[in-house]
Amino acid sequence: MDKVLLHIEHLTKRYDKDTVALRDVSIDFKEGDFVVVIGPSGAGKSTLIRCINRMIDATDGKILFDGQEISGARGQKLRVLRSEIGMVFQNYNLIGRVNVVKNVLYGRLGHMPLWKSLLGKYSREERKAAFALLEKVGLKDQAYKRADALSGGQMQRVGICRALIQEPKLLLADEPIASLDPKSAEIVMEQMHDITSERGLTCIVNLHQVDFARRYASRIVGIRDGQVVFDGAPDELTDEMTAFIYQGKEHEMKLKESGPSRQVSVKKVVVQNG
Ligand SMILES: Nc1ncnc2c1ncn2[C@@H]1O[C@H](COP(=O)(O)OP(=O)(O)O)[C@@H](O)[C@H]1O
Ligand SMILES: [Mg+2]
Repeated sequence: MDKVLLHIEHLTKRYDKDTVALRDVSIDFKEGDFVVVIGPSGAGKSTLIRCINRMIDATDGKILFDGQEISGARGQKLRVLRSEIGMVFQNYNLIGRVNVVKNVLYGRLGHMPLWKSLLGKYSREERKAAFALLEKVGLKDQAYKRADALSGGQMQRVGICRALIQEPKLLLADEPIASLDPKSAEIVMEQMHDITSERGLTCIVNLHQVDFARRYASRIVGIRDGQVVFDGAPDELTDEMTAFIYQGKEHEMKLKESGPSRQVSVKKVVVQNG
């Protein structure tokens, strides 16, 4: 599969005159790819995802999603585009007092007319799909529990089901495992990777854990200070390149905090953040 699903051209995002979060980023994402975007905190990873799903407007540049311009989309067109892009969040964004299967079904709201969504009228097919997804991530027997009774890892797996029931063409995940212990993180990454590759679904995941990026990505993109400084296969990401990517703002901050000693190993900084 070589079709370009997402085409980004000269994308710049300036929050204010001193904060340029993305600088002239041009990059294509192909259908079926599992891309992991790495980079230190403050590099611009979340900003990139927010521009793609139009949570924020880019300052400059163009984003084409499946041939359609996202950047200028409004109203109904924007609604349709958004329904085709699934999101997975660091803090899961579930409704805690609502049960698990309902949380999954909320992923269908973008496809329903407002009156139906207000009545919570889901079709039999939608309910079946919700249970099938929960079974896939090993949470079928938790379907009627309140979401806030689950562990963090389980909540994130519910978050993945909610994004997938939307039947998106693109799945975006912003630091999906940053709040999880290593074992839960592994399960979440494993499931997200396996389910999306089974479906040939394109996935862009922001992570700061380089080890996870290496393990699951079909392609790794390194961002530093708002610019793409690496774009390649996992085995092309050398330790030197990793060090270079992470010599961004965070590295400078750590160096400042740790005083005049310039001997701080960059690799160590990466591990500390992972
Ligand atoms: N809403 C905002 N207002 C102003 N500056 C922001 C905002 N969001 C992010 N930034 C700044 O933009 C830069 C990139 O941030 P972000 O995209 O969150 O990076 P990352 O996700 O890689 O940590 C940082 O300097 C950050 O402080
Ligand atoms: Mg971020």
